[in-house]
Amino acid sequence: MSATLIAGSAHPQLADALAKELGLALGRCSLEHFPDGECHVQLGCDVRGEVFIVQPLGNPVGEHVLELALIADACRRAGASRITAVTPYLGYARQDRRTAPGEALGAQVLGRLVGSAPLDAIVVVDLHQPAVEGCFPFPMVQLSAADALADAVKPTLPKDAVVVAPDLGAMRLAQRFADRLGLPTAGVHKSRLGGAQVQARGVIGDVKGKVPVIIDDMITTGSTIEAAAHAVEAHGALGAPLVCTVHGVFAGDALARLGKLGIRGLVVTDSLPQRDEAVLARQVVSIAPLLAKALKG
Ligand code: R5P
Repeated sequence: MSATLIAGSAHPQLADALAKELGLALGRCSLEHFPDGECHVQLGCDVRGEVFIVQPLGNPVGEHVLELALIADACRRAGASRITAVTPYLGYARQDRRTAPGEALGAQVLGRLVGSAPLDAIVVVDLHQPAVEGCFPFPMVQLSAADALADAVKPTLPKDAVVVAPDLGAMRLAQRFADRLGLPTAGVHKSRLGGAQVQARGVIGDVKGKVPVIIDDMITTGSTIEAAAHAVEAHGALGAPLVCTVHGVFAGDALARLGKLGIRGLVVTDSLPQRDEAVLARQVVSIAPLLAKALKG
């Protein structure tokens, strides 16, 4: 395969893993900050041909978007014929609709900003809201890590487990994950009260006497998982839950919050860099094979 893979600063480990999967060497690209804070990009490799830029758009999203645009611009000016952004995690995807007057439509703003870069396509994994694709002016390839997560938990899965979607938005992901494992599903009816506070209003499906395996597309503050764990326990679920997520954002004290729940385990992909292992251990499942398969076409 004749292509060049460039790593932005957001997740060099994932870029490395993907390069290995694709059998490519990482293209040299210097990313520096000038004393005034401006980002400076300079390619040190031949990029004529196809280019993949690996840059999940996690915190700080603005900086990562700008860096992605600068790298794409440098590649295009240096003769790249086709440029694909590999952004498994897409920040602002949760701002896909306005919930109150006076708010901005964050997902569309992000789509316009990223869309202004000279990109030909973008690859995402378990996008919070698939319709966000419409905010981008070029094709979006949407992948799911549900099967990879299911295969990772299968060997240690407790007997009589039930897959739980902690809110209705997670149902599609939970169903695919459960189908792969041959397990039943249940769902939690959730209301968000604030940024770090949610309320479980009820449980749909039978969790009584079963070990809950809770799966969500992302964990940010941990409030959704906390509410779901308490809700299924109140409805008769058995024992500590196993928690799985695609995007481990883990903002603030989220890991400590999950630790206090006494969960059976935490399984997460490497769509974002995973830190603070000492706060809460987790099993990290690489999405590099999934990305590589999609990029190979
Ligand atoms: C929201 O609908 C998402 O699917 C997640 O449930 C949510 O973003 C998780 O956020 P937190 O961990 O802060 O509850």
